Amino acid sequence: MSSLLNSAAVKRTFAACFALPFVVLAGNAAADGDGVWKGGENVYAKVCGHCHENKVGPVIKGRQLPPAYITAVVRNGFRAMPAFPASFIDDNSLQQVAEYISKASAPAAKP
Ligand code: HEC
Repeated sequence: MSSLLNSAAVKRTFAACFALPFVVLAGNAAADGDGVWKGGENVYAKVCGHCHENKVGPVIKGRQLPPAYITAVVRNGFRAMPAFPASFIDDNSLQQVAEYISKASAPAAKP
C-alpha cells in the first residue's frame, strides 16, 4: 500500500494535475502574444462600437480620421468620452483599432 503511494509514477501524476491548470491559465493570458484583444476590429466591436454605433458618441468610421488623433482621444479622453488606459487597451491593440477605424467605411445607417 505505502509502496504504491510512494511510487514515482504516482508522484508524477500528482505533479501533473497540480501544474496543468497554471500552464493553461498562463497560456490564455498570453493569447495572441499581446493581450486579450484579437485585433482592431475586435476592439472596435467590443468597446468603441457600443457608443459609436448607438448614437452615444459620433460616428467615427468612414471619416478617415488620422490614427494618431484616434489614439490620442482614447488615451486622454475627449469631453464626454472617457479615457482608456493601457491596462485596458494595450498600445499594440490601440494602434490596430485606430488603423482599422481610419480605413473602415461608414457603418450602415440604423433604422
Ligand atoms: C462610453 C461611450 C464611449 C466609448 C466606449 C468610446 N467612445 Fe469615443 N466618444 C464618446 C463620446 C460621447 C464622444 C464625443 C465626445 C464629445 O464631443 O463630447 C466620443 C468621441 C470620440 C472621438 C472624437 C470624434 C470626433 O468627431 O472628433 C474619437 C476619435 C473616439 N471617440 C474614438 C473612440 C475609440 C477608438 C473608442 C474605442 C477604443 C471609443 N471612442 C470608445 C463615447 C465613447
